[in-house]
Amino acid sequence: MNKETGPLPFDKENIPRHIAFVMDGNGRWAQKRGLPRTAGHSAGSESFHKAAEILAELGVRHMTVYAFSTENWKRPLEEVSAIMGLLEKYLRRSIRELVENNIRLDFWGDLSPLSPKLRKLIDQTDELSKQCTGMQVHVCLNYGGRDEILRAARALAQDCLEGRLSPEDIGEKELEGRMYSHDVPPPDLLVRPGGEMRISNFLLWECAYSEFYFTDTLWPDFGREEIYKAIAEFQKRNRRYGGLSR
Ligand code: FPP
Repeated sequence: MNKETGPLPFDKENIPRHIAFVMDGNGRWAQKRGLPRTAGHSAGSESFHKAAEILAELGVRHMTVYAFSTENWKRPLEEVSAIMGLLEKYLRRSIRELVENNIRLDFWGDLSPLSPKLRKLIDQTDELSKQCTGMQVHVCLNYGGRDEILRAARALAQDCLEGRLSPEDIGEKELEGRMYSHDVPPPDLLVRPGGEMRISNFLLWECAYSEFYFTDTLWPDFGREEIYKAIAEFQKRNRRYGGLSR
């Protein structure tokens, strides 16, 4: 790992436990260079790999990335295929390196429409990385925040129908237990590069009290310096969770 040696611009005792990223701006990054959009996604996957290494080095416990949304199928077939191809390439090439760094990778989303080849690679990745005890990376793939909540609601309804649960016993814990993110603390910080200031159906339930950090930097340019800036900004925030200022 390429570790930074200079003084850190933030308190290393107060690192967010969980950081989520909307990896936005890949297309524009490529267009600015006269390259096809797919070259931007390729640069974006490099940026993802570097960010995972930096976050693991800082002691972040969970990193969640939005790789492909339930709405991204609306993009041209060529771009969808390129993103799926990149994921395959990435998993083939990098999983061993992540495992060596004790980083665990898992996937959140409806994986059923993905190609059998990609699903097999995902299963192999799960198998290889489940022994890792370091940072967990959650890759959201064919993921939608509304879809995640709907699936959990459906599972609750099924449990009620089959007598395992009564409606009056349904609380937040019961719903959360049926979501992709069960057992994972909610993001402390949600980072969106690329200049847009919206949540785009990402982690709708989980981000109820997350701190948001937006920047114009495009995802392929989002490196160590940008990560440090986001954490420094996070540490200036006063998290109140609906209560009074501390
Ligand atoms: C958003 O940028 C990015 C995506 C929809 C795809 C992100 C996918 C990857 C980085 C590929 C591989 C992922 C991993 C985890 C290896 P955009 O295309 O909307 O950018 P734009 O707003 O500039 O058009």
